[in-house]
Amino acid sequence: MKKLIVANWKMYLTLRQSIALAKRISKEASRLRSKNNVSIVLCPSFVAMEEAAKALHGTRIKLGAQDIYCCDARGAYTGEVGLDDLRELGVEYVLVGHSERRRYFKESDELINQKLRATIKAGLNPILCVGEPWTVRRKKKERQYVSRQVKSGLEGVTRGDLKRVVIAYEPVWAIGTKRPDSPKDASEMHAHIRKVVPARIPVLYGGSVNAKNAHAFLHALGVDGMLVGKASIAFGQFSKIIRQAAL
Ligand code: PGA
Repeated sequence: MKKLIVANWKMYLTLRQSIALAKRISKEASRLRSKNNVSIVLCPSFVAMEEAAKALHGTRIKLGAQDIYCCDARGAYTGEVGLDDLRELGVEYVLVGHSERRRYFKESDELINQKLRATIKAGLNPILCVGEPWTVRRKKKERQYVSRQVKSGLEGVTRGDLKRVVIAYEPVWAIGTKRPDSPKDASEMHAHIRKVVPARIPVLYGGSVNAKNAHAFLHALGVDGMLVGKASIAFGQFSKIIRQAAL
């Protein structure tokens, strides 16, 4: 399976920095020798989306959103961003249920499921983020915890629609901490997730991925790619990661 590398720029960059980085990455990606081995998705802020789309025009790099309004209706929803607007801009992926959304914005499993189904209905591909906090890992209860997140996130999704879904396993304690999971443990969790999902869909690893550890994760059994946060806004790091994935 082609490796999928997703860059989550979070709210790290200004508009200008986002445009500059999208341009540099698009140039770098055009230099990759084996472009067919890797798919790259950039998730800028909503504000930078249109300019990023222009910068990526004509490249194979795809666009993703970091979040979305939960439903497929237009209307009086102050402050929200609609799926059809994103689709018009050429967005193909949407992060759903990122741990920062769950934690800081109190997104429930039910809301996450609504967002996921709305994303599919709009013809886009949801990347369902799951992962346990340290309190759960310490008690070795992570499999039950992640199974529940996967099942509730995918509730009501038909077998046919499952092929649009990507899952990103991101242990919460590994996100932005410089303390990644081990490739072996990530690999075991990916195998577990595959037992819960009744279709062969890509499962990515995320949580303190950088240029140094990317190789080990990319070669861990069952890891189909990576969701990269902090290291994706550092051009040098990210270009090394995509070059390794393209090998
Ligand atoms: P990190 O973030 O790579 O900075 O740990 C990953 C993520 O939150 O998706």
